[in-house]
Amino acid sequence: MDSGEQIRENGMKRLLIVIFISALCLLSISGCAGNGTSVSMSDDDGRTTIKTEENSVENKTETEGYPVFDFSEKTVKLNSGYEMPILGIGTYALSDSQAENSTYWALKAGFRLIDTARIYGNEAGVGRGLKKAIEEGIVTRADVFITTKMWTSDFDNGDAAIDASLQRLDVSYIDLMILHHSQPRNDVKAYQAMERAVATGKLKSIGLSNYYEPSDFDRVVKATTIRPALLQNETHPYHQSGTMKNHIAKYGTVMESWFPLGGRGNTQTLFNNPTISAIAQSHSISSAQVIIRWHLQAGNICIPGSSNENHIIEDYDVWDFELTDEEMARMTALEKDERFADY
Ligand SMILES: NC(=O)c1ccc[n+]([C@@H]2O[C@H](COP(=O)([O-])OP(=O)(O)OC[C@H]3O[C@@H](n4cnc5c(N)ncnc54)[C@H](OP(=O)(O)O)[C@@H]3O)[C@@H](O)[C@H]2O)c1
Repeated sequence: MDSGEQIRENGMKRLLIVIFISALCLLSISGCAGNGTSVSMSDDDGRTTIKTEENSVENKTETEGYPVFDFSEKTVKLNSGYEMPILGIGTYALSDSQAENSTYWALKAGFRLIDTARIYGNEAGVGRGLKKAIEEGIVTRADVFITTKMWTSDFDNGDAAIDASLQRLDVSYIDLMILHHSQPRNDVKAYQAMERAVATGKLKSIGLSNYYEPSDFDRVVKATTIRPALLQNETHPYHQSGTMKNHIAKYGTVMESWFPLGGRGNTQTLFNNPTISAIAQSHSISSAQVIIRWHLQAGNICIPGSSNENHIIEDYDVWDFELTDEEMARMTALEKDERFADY
């Protein structure tokens, strides 16, 4: 090949790379450089690599921007590529048999997301509730999104903890596993165990819970490869988690609210709030429904906990009304930066 041909071929190569990068930018939800991330490329050894200046980590999916909820499908697309229901049922403080009943009632009522945790001691009950609903033809395993959490005392033995949760739930894969709490001593090690389980198909998506400082969240992100798909933190009208939601948006991570109604023992505080009661009255719905709908419209995956079938049916009945912009603004104004839990 003469030098002219060589130059033309190199030029063509670079042009193709530029076209490829431009196409990626166009396809990206928020654009390559939308929030401070810049892209560089190199073809020195004939291969093209894309690096972000933000963390110079290769092979991380660049899906910056807060995930958008699809209200017609009632789902959100996670940065892992999987669709997740935006409304689910929580099982904290439920006994094993209560969790079995609530899971079954929830699936019958239309819920497709169940939240449990190893520390709740009710993963087996959730598994039985799921099995019953599958046997009765209400759902298939693929219809249902199961989340469980790795407890802090398991962080040094993450691989075994994942296998144990799979066994208790009696499922061949878990849709989402999250670390239950920040624990700087060994949470990266535990997260890496979850990454290995993603590679083997035991887990589909992974994330974090109870990380309240952007720097603490970033500590895990920087030390690992797979971006957290979700952050589950205490979030409700009195603690709306704005700082963390803004922060995790750059990773395409979605917020999920725990204590969405204030938590057991605190619900009346929110239900009787004059703003919430007035909005409920004007729509002829309950305060619980106002709060749940607010979470969804604010972009929070919502997992109200309940052991009561009527409450479960009511909590899923939030698709036929919408809070107006003015009502959403009144709800936003309730922010007090006040948590109900002390952990
Ligand atoms: N990651 C974490 O550290 C963490 C911490 C806490 C919770 N969570 C998760 O988040 C989920 C939600 O939190 P949570 O269950 O603690 O609190 P919550 O959902 O804010 O509140 C649960 C309380 O609301 C009541 N309730 C539910 N629907 C109702 C309705 N329509 N009308 C009246 N009362 C209603 C329940 O009573 P009934 O049983 O009588 O319906 C229960 O007392 C948990 O279940 C758990 O899965 C995670």
